[in-house]
Amino acid sequence: MSVIAATPDAISEAAALLRSGALVAFPTETVYGLGADATNGAAVASIFEAKGRPHFNPLIVHVADISVAHRLAYIPDGAQRIAEAFWPGPVTLVLKRRPDSGLSDLVSAGLDTVALRMPDHPIARSLLVAAGRPLAAPSANRSGHVSPTQAQHVADDLGDKVAMVLDGGATAHGIESTIIDASSERHVMLRSGSVPGLVIEQALGLKLVRSLQAESLKPRASGQLASHYAPRARVRLNVTHGFTEGEAVLAFGPFEAARHRAVSGPFINLSERADLIEAAANLFAALRKLDALGVPSIAVTPIPEQGLGEAINDRLTRAAAPR
Ligand code: TXA
Ligand code: MG
Repeated sequence: MSVIAATPDAISEAAALLRSGALVAFPTETVYGLGADATNGAAVASIFEAKGRPHFNPLIVHVADISVAHRLAYIPDGAQRIAEAFWPGPVTLVLKRRPDSGLSDLVSAGLDTVALRMPDHPIARSLLVAAGRPLAAPSANRSGHVSPTQAQHVADDLGDKVAMVLDGGATAHGIESTIIDASSERHVMLRSGSVPGLVIEQALGLKLVRSLQAESLKPRASGQLASHYAPRARVRLNVTHGFTEGEAVLAFGPFEAARHRAVSGPFINLSERADLIEAAANLFAALRKLDALGVPSIAVTPIPEQGLGEAINDRLTRAAAPR
């Protein structure tokens, strides 16, 4: 495996690798994806093998533009409006597959729906165009680990299980796309993500059914598995005092360093100026960094549940879940 700067030559080489059935990791505006040709069942299967996933769950298929999405799936009016407003960008739509889509069945884990998104990243889009295929790409981490926001994270996690890692620097959002099931009139938010649900509701004047309300709907997004995004360290949420000796602190907003100095563990502030966008972009790299120090636990200070705070707290709650 090699981590390679994403020059035009490297992108052509990556596209050829993908067409031959190999795995290539690439940057998107959210996190790095582990890409495979979505029309090649064996290539898609090797994604699960590389991630060490215990079971098959459906993957997001990335498309170069909306016309490709129309060839792969039926797009009802509501879904079309969401795509027009948010593509390219970090909103994924779950839609009914067309019978002649050419997609592997495994990419949908045998369901009659498929999750599609058009990424807003120049390297991802060049790669999609050069490959000339839709690309299945979950986050490029070992199953259960936090998602990679830098090329080196991918190399650390997947090593030689991937033919090439295209390096595009740190990702902008740092948190995965928002997933909306838009296959029917009822729009269900299956996973909170880079675009807050409220932003989608306000832009389109529609109401999203939240996944908690939709608890009984199957299948659930992988982000909904209880313990996911899990560092090795124990994670404690909403901690404002009572830090323990050697415990790492993951802070948000102005934080009295003096309070923490008393315990002298490692300290990272996701955003000193309490900016949720900055915090989301830093989240996974911060968890990886603290975990690599081998701390027994990570105390997280409160993060407001507004806007992107919804997705950040969702990921942190999973990281804190018993396992
Ligand atoms: O930001 C992102 O979305 C990243 C980057 C790489 O694009 N990708 C990503 O993909 O997070 P993935 O495959 O790790 O997560 C997609 C989740 C799956 O766990 C799955 O449960 C859900 O989307 N999903 C996919 N297809 C679905 C379907 N047909 N019905 C319901 N949920 C589906
Ligand atoms: Mg993932």
